[in-house]
Amino acid sequence: MSQPTARPAAPILKPQHPHDAQAIEALLDRAFGPGRFTKVSERVREFAEPALELSVCAWAGERLVGVVRQWRVRVGGQPVVFLGPLAVDADQRGEGLGARLVSEAARAAETGGEAAVLLVGDAPFFSPLGFSAEAAREVVMPGPVDPTRVLAWLFRPVELKGPVRRL
Ligand SMILES: CC(C)(COP(=O)(O)OP(=O)(O)OC[C@H]1O[C@@H](n2cnc3c(N)ncnc32)[C@H](O)[C@@H]1OP(=O)(O)O)[C@@H](O)C(=O)NCCC(=O)NCCS
Repeated sequence: MSQPTARPAAPILKPQHPHDAQAIEALLDRAFGPGRFTKVSERVREFAEPALELSVCAWAGERLVGVVRQWRVRVGGQPVVFLGPLAVDADQRGEGLGARLVSEAARAAETGGEAAVLLVGDAPFFSPLGFSAEAAREVVMPGPVDPTRVLAWLFRPVELKGPVRRL
């Protein structure tokens, strides 16, 4: 009789460590390809302050299989967290890891006292997790963007109004 195949353990989530930078770059290159730096989010990341303690890495043993990075910026006068990029390695997709990474990153931001998380991404993926275009409708990104992709999750009733700027 054949033995049932054991399912591999779910990847472990950890805050980003400075030593993870090289593995993260390699994962993002695999996930996004060469178009990676043309996105409006990259314009934000050029002046945003990295928040390593709010960024989350997913590890399958020694291998980095997922990441979500977070940054600090302000919208008008309001400090907020900017989320992205988010990537999961192709062979790990469809198992809930992307959603786990985003939920963990948002939880870290909220428990860290941040007011809101802002991102540019696909609403069908991010809306069920807590984000909405309505909360971000007066946010001005530093470049052309489809407004239905600018999404925010407010942890308390703050107003996100005006340009995204350096903190
Ligand atoms: C997007 C990504 C992080 C999702 O990772 P994942 O681990 O597969 O996510 P989950 O398993 O939590 O969720 C998968 C579900 O989201 C859906 N989904 C994935 N990408 C989506 C998208 N861009 N828009 C809408 N739905 C999406 C899948 O169809 C799947 O739906 P199902 O559960 O009904 O089958 C991964 O596909 C990836 O790295 N893609 C390349 C990089 C990228 O596009 N990053 C996001 C930029 S907005």
